[in-house]
Amino acid sequence: MLLQLLTIFFFSLLSQSLQISSQNLSFTFNGFYPPLTDISVQGISSVTPKGVLKLTNFTTTDSGHAFYSKQIRFRDSPNDTVSSFSTTFVFVIRPLVPGIGADGMAFVIAPNFSVPTAAPSQDLGLFNIINNDNDTHHVFAVEFDTVQDSFDPDNNHVGIDINSLKSVKTSPAGYWNENDQFNKLTLVSAERMQVWVDYDSRTHQINVTMAPFRKDKPKKPLVSIVRDLSSVLLQDMFVGFSSATGSILSEHFVLGWSFRVKGEAPLLALSKLPKVGKRSWMTWFALMFVVLIFLIILCVIPLLIICLPICLLRCILRRRRKFAEEIEDWETEFAKNRMKFKDLYYATKGFKDEGLLGRGGFGSVYKGIMPKTKKEIAVKRVSNKSQQGLKEFVSEIASIGRMSHRNLVPLLGYCRRKDELLLVYEYMPNGSLDKYLHNSPEVSLDWNQRIKIIKGVASALFFLHEEWEQVVIHRDVKSSNVLLDAEHNGRLGDFGLARLCGHGTDPETTNVAGTWGYLAPDHIRTGRATTATDVFAFGVLLLEVASGRRPIEVQDSVSGERVFLVDWVFQFWIDGNILGAKDPNLWYDYEVGEIEMVLKLGLLCSQSDPENRPTMRQVLHYLRGDVTLPNLQPSDLRGSERLLGIPEVGFSELSLSTGGSSITNSLLSGGR
Ligand SMILES: *[C@@H]1O[C@H](CO)[C@@H](O)[C@H](O)[C@H]1NC(C)=O
Ligand SMILES: *[C@@H]1O[C@H](CO)[C@@H](O)[C@H](O)[C@H]1NC(C)=O
Ligand SMILES: *[C@@H]1O[C@H](CO)[C@@H](O)[C@H](O)[C@H]1NC(C)=O
Ligand SMILES: *[C@@H]1O[C@H](CO)[C@@H](O)[C@H](O)[C@H]1NC(C)=O
Ligand SMILES: *[C@@H]1O[C@H](CO)[C@@H](O)[C@H](O)[C@H]1NC(C)=O
Ligand SMILES: *[C@@H]1O[C@H](CO)[C@@H](O)[C@H](O)[C@H]1NC(C)=O
Repeated sequence: MLLQLLTIFFFSLLSQSLQISSQNLSFTFNGFYPPLTDISVQGISSVTPKGVLKLTNFTTTDSGHAFYSKQIRFRDSPNDTVSSFSTTFVFVIRPLVPGIGADGMAFVIAPNFSVPTAAPSQDLGLFNIINNDNDTHHVFAVEFDTVQDSFDPDNNHVGIDINSLKSVKTSPAGYWNENDQFNKLTLVSAERMQVWVDYDSRTHQINVTMAPFRKDKPKKPLVSIVRDLSSVLLQDMFVGFSSATGSILSEHFVLGWSFRVKGEAPLLALSKLPKVGKRSWMTWFALMFVVLIFLIILCVIPLLIICLPICLLRCILRRRRKFAEEIEDWETEFAKNRMKFKDLYYATKGFKDEGLLGRGGFGSVYKGIMPKTKKEIAVKRVSNKSQQGLKEFVSEIASIGRMSHRNLVPLLGYCRRKDELLLVYEYMPNGSLDKYLHNSPEVSLDWNQRIKIIKGVASALFFLHEEWEQVVIHRDVKSSNVLLDAEHNGRLGDFGLARLCGHGTDPETTNVAGTWGYLAPDHIRTGRATTATDVFAFGVLLLEVASGRRPIEVQDSVSGERVFLVDWVFQFWIDGNILGAKDPNLWYDYEVGEIEMVLKLGLLCSQSDPENRPTMRQVLHYLRGDVTLPNLQPSDLRGSERLLGIPEVGFSELSLSTGGSSITNSLLSGGR
């Protein structure tokens, strides 16, 4: 601390060697170290702690002045001529943006330095000193101008100003070397430069010389004029510097300065002068900012280059997984029946609940519109945890895909994924038959419609059993699997599914699957589906359509007692009033004989003994009236009192063996 104080004291002694007398005056500032009493600063000028006289800082359109605070006597008496004088100083102009500076600085001799308002920009802060070209100003200045104004030769010049900013003489900044060659200097280079201004009272010559720092004073001055300053300078004047900034910012510094009247200015101790960096902290800041941005870009771009493909890949993979399908070798032969999961996904708008047509034992059904063809479809999603039996099923499906019968719901294709199978059917606008029979329907079908539907279903079953190249057993004939097209034609859907799901649920025990109430007793006993078991189910369907009742009705919700439709209708026949079983919704537009025939045919088909059931060919003949139904009596159906032939235990056995869910679901919801 003490050492520091001593150093400062020593420096201040050195730097301000003042020698004031009434005649000759000289001062020297080898840096502007404190304590600094003889320099007066105004505006944005200041003296930095490092001993630099800073004329302007980075303030836009402002000015600053720094003057030696004592008057200097330029004439011994008011009537004498102006004495010789000499000054030298070292300055630096450091612009914010390297290479572009504004506005410049000037060495000034003026009658007064207390300038109330600053005048910046092109006036170099002199505006208030020189309002215009008027001899009454008494101002002499040497300008270092870094902006080209209308009256300036360029933006890098030195000029001698007398009472006006329009210089008496100018020159580009630079110096003449020993060989009389001109070397240009750039004022805004942020380099240190030294200037000498000399006036000879006898020859009236004013010389302005400049040189790079540490270079000897050139012999030949840069700007030189002969002018008697007696008309300009008063007896006592102030000397100092003025500087200004515009919208472009520069810092103007003076590092050292000496002055003498009647003699050569004292030499500056160049090594003792303070230093200013080539770049200001703001330039550093701006540079760092640019570098930072560059680094960020440098980091971000490779990151992007690396990340983007990864993200893209992930997206693609996720999409792949989302739309993944399974295709095995054996499926190639069914390629034309295969549909893309992606298409189905978009057709059903992502299997949203809004498109849900129904939920059944085997899965959910969604309505959709094929993106390209705009064809309306119904997509059934069957969950398929076990792969067993799938191959057979798919091959059957594929063969069904080739089937074309006007009473079959057209199967358009299928799609297989890991855990599920998707079956694509043509959309049936009028829904399923059960909707019109049960649950107090809003629209009920008249007898003609019903008989048309029955005939349709019968011809479809006949087609499956006998007309197709191989025997196809439907396995799940029921009202909810009968769909109505736009003309209310009955169309049979969902073939073969029962078998698949029978396999799927528990292959160890039994293959029985179907819908309770439509299941033939022999099917339950043997676990084997035959054409006769289809006929049984069709018989139940006939009774259902004619009576409007479900295959199994819960008679008493408390005791849970169930009434089987077959038994129920049979009882009416025994009682001699088979028509009592007809649907009360059927009013008048029916033919008594036809209803009776349908009821009796239904009972005939749903006999417990498969041997006694007619074939679909016969059934079709009866329905079409090609062959009249034999005049049957209740006693003709042997064992008819046990029509369903299921001992009570069968019920629970069935539930157990099939896992229950598919059957129960189908029963309760009437799923398709
Ligand atoms: C003032 O300077 C002149 C010229 O350098 C010299 O002749 C004269 O003696 C000086 N006077 C004083 C008082 O220093
Ligand atoms: C410039 O200097 C003046 C006077 O010292 C000060 O008031 C001002 O805040 C400075 N401006 C900047 C930008 O440093
Ligand atoms: C200065 O000159 C004026 C006239 O030019 C004269 O009146 C005056 O007396 C002179 N003063 C001195 C001190 O010589
Ligand atoms: C400088 O100007 C101020 C007012 O602007 C004035 O009060 C002062 O006397 C002047 N000083 C000199 C030496 O002319
Ligand atoms: C010069 O300034 C003085 C005093 O301010 C004024 O009276 C005179 O008219 C000015 N002359 C010119 C040419 O502007
Ligand atoms: C100005 O420069 C000329 C040419 O070099 C020289 O002869 C003259 O003495 C100089 N005058 C002063 C005052 O330095």
